[in-house]
Amino acid sequence: MEQLSGEAKVMMEENRQGEAMIKPGVGSKKLYLESYGCQMNFSDSEIVVSILDKEGYETTSDPKQADLILLNTCSIRDKAEQTVRNRLKHFKRMKRENKNMKIGILGCMAERVKAKLLEEEQLVDLVVGPDAYRDLPQLMKELDGGKKAINVLLSKDETYHDIEPVRLGGNGVTAFVSITRGCDNMCSFCVVPFTRGRERSRNPQTIVVECQKLWADGYKEVTLLGQNVDSYLWYGGGLKKDFKVASDMAQASAVQFSHLLHMVANALPEIRIRFATSNPQDMSDEVLQAIAEHENICKYIHLPVQSGSSRILKAMNRGHDRADYMDLIDRVKRIIPDCAISQDIMAGFPTETEEDHEETLSLMSQVRYNFGYMFAYSERPNTMAARKLEDDVPLAVKKRRLQEIIDLQQVHSAERNAANVGQVVEVLIEGYSKRSDKDVFGRTSQNAVAVFPKKHHQPGDLVKVLIRSSTAATLLGDSIDTPS
Ligand code: SAH
Ligand code: F3S
Repeated sequence: MEQLSGEAKVMMEENRQGEAMIKPGVGSKKLYLESYGCQMNFSDSEIVVSILDKEGYETTSDPKQADLILLNTCSIRDKAEQTVRNRLKHFKRMKRENKNMKIGILGCMAERVKAKLLEEEQLVDLVVGPDAYRDLPQLMKELDGGKKAINVLLSKDETYHDIEPVRLGGNGVTAFVSITRGCDNMCSFCVVPFTRGRERSRNPQTIVVECQKLWADGYKEVTLLGQNVDSYLWYGGGLKKDFKVASDMAQASAVQFSHLLHMVANALPEIRIRFATSNPQDMSDEVLQAIAEHENICKYIHLPVQSGSSRILKAMNRGHDRADYMDLIDRVKRIIPDCAISQDIMAGFPTETEEDHEETLSLMSQVRYNFGYMFAYSERPNTMAARKLEDDVPLAVKKRRLQEIIDLQQVHSAERNAANVGQVVEVLIEGYSKRSDKDVFGRTSQNAVAVFPKKHHQPGDLVKVLIRSSTAATLLGDSIDTPS
């Protein structure tokens, strides 16, 4: 789900450092917060800071100064959890030196490991799951009373729809807006349905209002977020799985993801709209038509496939086989001819043979993805795969297959980017290049990263750029529409 570019994309959260977030405030207590994992976690952190802001906390970038350290965690692979456990060691001495300091674990690891986290990690005072952030003020009171505190209840209707996120560490140009929570798909390898609960959608009016507020504040692009955005369904609140028993009236007036896209695109015709993540089994032609119809909806779909082998897809409980997926790709190309597509692929799922792996490589060569996020399978406790299947692909084999997948993706990414050379593309500038502040960077509608001389441009400008050269990760060129 991340929006990193180029080589960085292939590594995802394993290499990602926690991000210190700074917001000048008037509070008397100091909060240091780090977020790991998917965009949804980063978005949730903005909700958490909003809730704690009202309790008198201001954020700091210096953990030593903090009264409260929060880690918003990821459980998707074992390595993501190990990263957090290692990070905790780093705070041990700080806590010894500052007796009043409290340390909390939020997010998916809190939900997965629950009270055991308090036993296993002595320095942790607070454990809060993704649906329980509203309880933070109450939990903080328990901490003040000298106790440890925990709330890992999952909810049927929590969407934090009424909480205005405090935008953190951002660029002032692009922002996340969460639209659904949880996932009902139960892919056999995936821990998310356990850590984020059942699917529920947020009131569309509140989504539109949040986007309008962002536009008024100068933001130029929103990314609508959910584990499974195509499954968005608003019928007055409640779990998606209970839709069947909703009243006839509620069913008749239900808002689906394609409707939501039209609503946001019509209400804000100039804001750029992205969304993530789409799951092949839930993506409808109505959604594709909405993308095609609105100029301001980016022509880019992140469409995880996981494997090119129908046998493995079945064992993964993906709800689609290779032919279904390729059929969807054909429909994307037909309905949105200039659409970029990215993938998630996993190497070494239990029972995966060399033939299965070859099928993954051949599917990649058929689709020729613009980029991708690629992983070695990591067994997650209690998932269907962990209970039913032996993790039988040796690590060295997983790694070798993963490398072959990454290498092939590099070829396709380079090829896709090279197709832009000599073309004029439209780029929304997000900030200054890391290498030189004389250059700016931004993304095309297709989510390709472009770097070019700043001239008189600023972050937030939408500019036309003539692409002169490219790598697998980046387009390089010059803006052309206005004199420098
Ligand atoms: N629908 C979600 C998917 C979250 S997980 C979203 O919003 O993106 C992101 C990716 O991590 C998955 O598509 C899958 O490729 C990978 N992944 C999930 N569980 C995994 C596991 N147990 N081992 C390795 N990779 C995994
Ligand atoms: Fe996980 Fe599959 Fe949902 S990958 S988040 S269970 S669509």
